[in-house]
Amino acid sequence: MAALNVVVGISGGIAAYKAVSVVRELVLAGHDVHVVATSNALRFVGLPTLEAISRNPVNTDLYEGVDEVRHVAVGQAADLIVVAPATAHTIAKIATGQASDFLGNTILASTAPIVIAPAMHTEMWQNPATVANIETLRSRGIHIVGPETGQLTGSDSGQGRMSEPSDIVAAALAAVASSHDLAGRTVLVTAGGTREPLDPVRFIGNRSSGKQGVAVANAALARGASVTLIGANLEVAPPVGVRLIEVGTTLELQTAVEAEAVTADLVVMAAAVADYRPAETAQSKIKKRSDSRTLELRLEENPDILRTLSSHRSRDQIIVGFAAETETDDSVLLQLGQAKISRKGCDFLVINRVGWTEGFASDRNTVIVINKLGDRVGEANGSKLSVAHRILDLVFAAR
Ligand code: CTP
Repeated sequence: MAALNVVVGISGGIAAYKAVSVVRELVLAGHDVHVVATSNALRFVGLPTLEAISRNPVNTDLYEGVDEVRHVAVGQAADLIVVAPATAHTIAKIATGQASDFLGNTILASTAPIVIAPAMHTEMWQNPATVANIETLRSRGIHIVGPETGQLTGSDSGQGRMSEPSDIVAAALAAVASSHDLAGRTVLVTAGGTREPLDPVRFIGNRSSGKQGVAVANAALARGASVTLIGANLEVAPPVGVRLIEVGTTLELQTAVEAEAVTADLVVMAAAVADYRPAETAQSKIKKRSDSRTLELRLEENPDILRTLSSHRSRDQIIVGFAAETETDDSVLLQLGQAKISRKGCDFLVINRVGWTEGFASDRNTVIVINKLGDRVGEANGSKLSVAHRILDLVFAAR
């Protein structure tokens, strides 16, 4: 990517200290970075730090550089604007087009892609005012990265933690590369893991967190697609702006997929689906047996949603499957993937290794993507969001 003129807007929240890493990563990637900090941001991070790391003067005061009309010039010159952290207050100001400070003017004067990384306490993020403001921003094509669920400022944790700097940078650069290349497309993503009830309190399930599928939904949304996410027991919050359908079991997932796939241009089956379900579900808690030290469960096969979907597709639709494999040898892994895609009949298969410590719960992923001929079309390694963008690049480039 050619060097970009990037404005990094920093507003006044504690996550401002992480914005220094955002600036650093962009500078090291060869971009010309101009920091626009609100006066409150400078209560959290020192101006010399930002000037040293960005290698440019920092703009804060609306009445500096008046002779060169700097309050509009900075925005006009930008190829990309990243606001990190974006506090609830700054989000509200952007949503209502306020120009009371340098950052507001810069944003209003720019036609560049804008990427914002919200950071605030969970209650503030979930407040209807913030939810409405975020929807306004998204409807105007502004990209939202995060926030994540995790440790907040104090000892509390929840949704509202700013995304990691490398994710913000990846999403920001992807926004420039692809600004709205999926506008007008409909994307259906399944994520999470199905659970098959044994009785009212127990289930057979798997360790899928839903993070990779949610990242695909996020990436597609940022690229302008209309996204439906079918979530099976998600452990991560779905992005604001997707249509969420929650399911529990494989049969529920199948019903939802069949209904939603009809209108989708792309279906990404990232969910980890239980291949079997208990043949009987007890209506009350199964009691411990005193007469035997073993308990046998009878399971029956679940339908293969992906295979059925691929064989019944009626129009020019791209179908992507995921393969979760514990195989450690790379060439055997590829062979397993090749056998799986020919069995499933989908267009692409994203092969990822899972295990006791890799895959499901991690924030990072390493995948190989193959096409229906079994040829390797690409690979990706990095945050789940960057992997998601790469998958979208690969599957749409092939069309
Ligand atoms: N899948 C599905 N329906 C199932 C099982 C899997 O639609 N009953 C989909 C998953 O969503 C995924 C792909 O098929 O996109 C591969 O899932 P995976 O669990 O890796 O493969 P399986 O077919 O279950 O094969 P195996 O367990 O033998 O590896």
